[in-house]
Amino acid sequence: MAREFTRVGVVGLGTMGAGIVEVFARNGVDVTAVEISDAALERGRVTLTGSTDRAVAKGKLVEAERDALLARVDFRVGLDALHDVDLVIEAVPEHLDLKQRIFAELDRVCKPEAILATNTSSLSVTEISVATTRPNQVIGIHFFNPAPVMKLVEVVRTVVTSADVVADVEALCERLGKVDVTISDRAGFIANALLFGYLNHAVGMFEARYATREDIDAAMKLGCGLPMGPLALMDLIGLDTAYEILDTMYRRGGRDRRHAPAPLLKQMVTAGLLGRKSGRGFYTYERPGSPKVVPDEYTPLAADAALADGARAIAKVGVVGSGTMATGIIEVFAKAGYEVISVTRGAEKSAKVCEAVKTSLNKGVVRGKLSETDRDDALGRITWSATLEHLADVDLVVEAVIEELSVKKALFASLDEICKPGVVLATTTSSLPVIDVAMATQRPADVVGLHFFNPAPIMPLVEIVQTIRTSAETSATARAVCAKLGKTGVVCGDRSGFIVNALLFPYLNDAVKMLEASYSTADDIDYAMKLGCGYPMGPFELLDVVGLDVSLAIQRELYLELREPGFAPAPLLEHLVTAGYLGRKSGRGFRDHTRR
Ligand SMILES: NC(=O)c1ccc[n+]([C@@H]2O[C@H](COP(=O)([O-])OP(=O)(O)OC[C@H]3O[C@@H](n4cnc5c(N)ncnc54)[C@H](O)[C@@H]3O)[C@@H](O)[C@H]2O)c1
Repeated sequence: MAREFTRVGVVGLGTMGAGIVEVFARNGVDVTAVEISDAALERGRVTLTGSTDRAVAKGKLVEAERDALLARVDFRVGLDALHDVDLVIEAVPEHLDLKQRIFAELDRVCKPEAILATNTSSLSVTEISVATTRPNQVIGIHFFNPAPVMKLVEVVRTVVTSADVVADVEALCERLGKVDVTISDRAGFIANALLFGYLNHAVGMFEARYATREDIDAAMKLGCGLPMGPLALMDLIGLDTAYEILDTMYRRGGRDRRHAPAPLLKQMVTAGLLGRKSGRGFYTYERPGSPKVVPDEYTPLAADAALADGARAIAKVGVVGSGTMATGIIEVFAKAGYEVISVTRGAEKSAKVCEAVKTSLNKGVVRGKLSETDRDDALGRITWSATLEHLADVDLVVEAVIEELSVKKALFASLDEICKPGVVLATTTSSLPVIDVAMATQRPADVVGLHFFNPAPIMPLVEIVQTIRTSAETSATARAVCAKLGKTGVVCGDRSGFIVNALLFPYLNDAVKMLEASYSTADDIDYAMKLGCGYPMGPFELLDVVGLDVSLAIQRELYLELREPGFAPAPLLEHLVTAGYLGRKSGRGFRDHTRR
């Protein structure tokens, strides 16, 4: 017969524990909430009441429900209070010895049939379980932060966890309104194994001053639709917890260098900069525990001030190319009030691009996003040409031709001959070094990368890629142009993958490796990232949309440039590409799209 869970215990009321108490109490389960001291207990109580008060203020909970919820929680100091609970969830700091000590004590205090669960993110549940005399009743129940909001729970079974314990915990998750994925005991389980390499890489980018914290976070939010950027997420997780998770994953997960905690993390933890909970981490918060970011000495000047910073005046823009990106970029500039000269390789191509721009603008009118006058004005600002010489007096050229270095270099050499002095020359390349293109001209200081995302009229992000030769004036001009286009321009160095692709594709590649290792299924991995981390798509859904061939090419570039062994393309990805399974476009990738 399935177990009844009428009273559960939660040990440790920090970032996770307080949220876990709320999840149970909200669902009608009585909770004994335990801390180490009166002060810590009080902090846990304040976190819980703060969270439930916010839920009332947002209309998600009525006052009577909140009062009933709080009445279900019995706050206590010391583990002895847990003698009558049916299940305990431990959420103390991520240290194996501490958890083992607590489990030995729980084993002594709790009734024999009680299930003992850990919320560990990276430690071995098996190693924790052997501190008790009932390892078959020890299990991992890994909630996600914030626990009341995130739908996913990873249920971690060890080789000795009893099947009935797993089944009862799965049923409990369902009762709590959560979606569970049940997996075996491996460092980082599904979500953290895929997440933490990415988070650590983002910290490394920040530490190397490759881009600012605001730009790294904006890039991942706007470029990938993530609910928060990696550095803001580190602050939410807690830098001490993140450090311990990375350190454990490094040691347990095959010493992958990408999990060796970035040195800056250790320094920040030592300095007491733990993220939101301490009021300061990568960002500064209104007060400890507050989600509200306040300006500090690293906050960039308001956009207007940056624009005044030596930007050149741009009125006339040339766009070279006739593909998807060029078409979108022409539309974006024309709509923003720039005079645009489109240059293609022939009248036929120009006619096609013109048609595509018209169709897209008309869609805007149908959807009520653009007036007919604005559409006509935008079209009136575009001149169609097949002659590069027509770019002699433009102020900015945006190149969006085929992704081949020799073609781009030849084009830039021609532009160098044709264009007036002072023009800004931009390439939209997503994978080639901008410096190679810049050095095809005699004016590398005027060359910059403007990496738009597809579809350009919709995606709000542009990566502004500065080479080691790009002048401050050119960069300021690029930022001013992005602002006028209504886009968020993020500035980064000239490294493979810039910000977004460098952080995104290794994570996708890791998901393929996880599937290849048969640790979990594509469906469960997709669920884990969507429901545990709030990603708009799971990695396999995204790979099928982007195209496996495109993803493999990007991953290869990253691997070749950075020589990071962990970036080596997953053999399964290579095999699928070889087999012609390229994703949606070919009807089959990780999933079969012909039958849907
Ligand atoms: N932070 C996250 O985003 C996140 C997400 C999922 C899982 N986890 C895991 O949850 C666990 C807790 O992490 P956290 O971020 O909530 O840590 P935290 O530092 O915010 O909270 C830990 C709490 O445990 C209490 N504590 C310490 N020793 C104790 C003891 N002997 N008895 C009772 N209470 C004790 C501390 O007073 C503190 O309130 C870790 O295993 C972590 O890996 C964290």
